[in-house]
Amino acid sequence: MKAIVFDRFGGPDVLREADVDLPTPGPGQVRVRVRAAGVNPVDGKTRAGLMAALRPTTFPAVPGGELAGVVDAVGEDVRDLRVGDEVLGWSDTGAYAEHALATTVVRKPAELSWEDAAALPVATDTTERVLDLLGVAAGETVLMHGASGGVGTLAVQLAVGRGARVLATAGPGNQEYLTALGATATTYGDGLVERVRALAPDGVDAVFDLAGKGALEDSVTLRGGTDRIVTIADLGAQQLGVTFARGGADRATERLSVVAADVAAGALTTTVTTYPLHEAVAAHEASDSGHVRGKLVLTVA
Ligand SMILES: NC(=O)c1ccc[n+]([C@@H]2O[C@H](COP(=O)([O-])OP(=O)(O)OC[C@H]3O[C@@H](n4cnc5c(N)ncnc54)[C@H](OP(=O)(O)O)[C@@H]3O)[C@@H](O)[C@H]2O)c1
Repeated sequence: MKAIVFDRFGGPDVLREADVDLPTPGPGQVRVRVRAAGVNPVDGKTRAGLMAALRPTTFPAVPGGELAGVVDAVGEDVRDLRVGDEVLGWSDTGAYAEHALATTVVRKPAELSWEDAAALPVATDTTERVLDLLGVAAGETVLMHGASGGVGTLAVQLAVGRGARVLATAGPGNQEYLTALGATATTYGDGLVERVRALAPDGVDAVFDLAGKGALEDSVTLRGGTDRIVTIADLGAQQLGVTFARGGADRATERLSVVAADVAAGALTTTVTTYPLHEAVAAHEASDSGHVRGKLVLTVA
């Protein structure tokens, strides 16, 4: 089968298309004929070798942690899925490929496009985990740093859905985008504390940092301490005593099913830019830029 692989750490150009062996599902796994694969910033960080201390990489490596596609083989002990089922979820073996093994998937609503489906697993799981950690409740004000990307697009809508008021940051070109998602938008950078105080004179109840670009000190100032601040991207969190949330094995599959149904019904929106699988290099160049609106998705013919 065709897959995108890399044999050494480096820039996007280390990615290349290759013929690799078709994987065989083990106990508890299904094999998915991939139709779309989400591109996440961690894919670029892994490719660049920045994750090597946390996750060992075996070469040749196939990138990609999330997928949507059709089950085409079923391993032992899999009772709830059959060949032909349309699913979305997490890839065990790398999703930038014609086929991938997966242990954690949910059924795809028929009305949901492959591209939208592949944009949902990581963003949903991350958002729900952090909103739960922050204990976001109706009537509260949540500040989100970097909300116009793949996770933020969903995070704004899901927090608004919990009844929160969301103040969200992005660059000048994404202010209207954030407003359309339901947030009160402002720009990141110098003067952030003053801008947020003007928009929320009574303060912010919680902070979700999705950008990891140096907004934690301002967040501590705005909160008057480190309580109810969570980052998913700022490696300086520990030094400041701020919580860094990492993904775990316990994935929010029930909520993923709900979000998938809501996107299919038009109650939630996604913003997806697609590239064919063989243009993975261009997709990684765009992702590495740090200025993607919504989600990047590779489509697999
Ligand atoms: N720990 C976890 O479990 C976990 C899970 C998922 C993701 N992550 C990490 O979380 C981060 C966000 O993921 P993502 O998929 O949403 O990324 P993404 O789609 O690449 O985010 C891009 C967005 O970030 C905005 N941005 C760029 N510079 C910014 C700044 N200085 N301040 C605020 N916003 C800025 C951009 O807005 P403009 O273009 O308008 O500048 C753009 O819309 C990544 O670092 C990712 O690796 C962690």
